[in-house]
Amino acid sequence: MMDWTDRHCRVFHRHLTRRALLYTEMLTTGAVIHGDRERLLGFDAVEHPIALQLGGSDPRELAEAARIGEAFGYDEINLNVGCPSDRVKDGRFGACLMAEPELVARCVEAMKRAVAIPITVKCRIGIDDQDPEVALDALARGVVASGCDALIVHARKAWLNGLSPKENRDIPPLDYDRVYRLKRAMPEVPVIINGGIPGIEEAKAHLEHVDGVMLGRAAYQEPWRLLSVDREIFGEAAPHGSMQAALEAMMPYIEQQLARGTRLHAITRHFVGAFHAVPGARAFRRHLAEQGTRLGAGGDVLSDAIAKVAFGQAA
Ligand SMILES: Cc1cc2nc3c(=O)[nH]c(=O)nc-3n(C[C@H](O)[C@H](O)[C@H](O)COP(=O)(O)O)c2cc1C
Repeated sequence: MMDWTDRHCRVFHRHLTRRALLYTEMLTTGAVIHGDRERLLGFDAVEHPIALQLGGSDPRELAEAARIGEAFGYDEINLNVGCPSDRVKDGRFGACLMAEPELVARCVEAMKRAVAIPITVKCRIGIDDQDPEVALDALARGVVASGCDALIVHARKAWLNGLSPKENRDIPPLDYDRVYRLKRAMPEVPVIINGGIPGIEEAKAHLEHVDGVMLGRAAYQEPWRLLSVDREIFGEAAPHGSMQAALEAMMPYIEQQLARGTRLHAITRHFVGAFHAVPGARAFRRHLAEQGTRLGAGGDVLSDAIAKVAFGQAA
């Protein structure tokens, strides 16, 4: 999620679930091809399995960016056909591509030809005055015919005129049934549902109808929920028995990053929602906010913050 997630966040989340697939925020093909690749694409080996999300609409550039992503070691390339921001519209990618299913299909075809890893598409159920019954099927059928390996559907329209990106994540009504119908119409294609899913119990209910569930804001703002993903969804033990243990396990990574010049806050800013309804959660947050943002703050700030939490946030 642009401006929210980054590689540090993903390392943290990987300490909460071994099995969930993690996604990068959207990177434009221009940035991937012409930008500082190590800074934009570099990630830690513990982040696997990890998908790189691309924004673009030029098949040749997308193929090139996918090739670069594969060479960096990403496990999947995902094409963004859901982002509604103006910047994205001007560049003719993101959600506005819902209106150009043939172009999206050509993009997928070019990426498939370029790499051996899975190519997936994240889209909306439609945009503006499109009929989702027609628009979603048209997009899905086109990309699947081009070899798309899975579809992630944010179960609401994007209204490209008049709503801000933030409003476009809340105001257009959710239509989970539309995504379930897509799955029934294309049983051979993995369909992953996204949008407004608050936690693991709700995710399990969706799994009665679709193949996967993507959590966005809930995963970021309430990361403690991820501690039960491996047990509840995959029937495996969590990587750590408590949030404290997961955070302590971050310490070697943090020391390594501090030694490279990363500021502590760049990592600990992702821990704000780590504890929920446990004594000391607020003191943990306050300590990180007050001490973790100091220039030269070290790992001891995190240890001290963890010590303020009385009981574990159990897995
Ligand atoms: C700050 C922010 C940044 C986002 N950036 C991206 C992005 O880069 N790529 C993407 O596919 N979706 C992005 N999204 C949308 C989410 O992935 C997700 O589709 C949306 O928030 C609905 O799911 P949720 O209700 O589980 O959050 C972003 C959402 C937020 C809140």
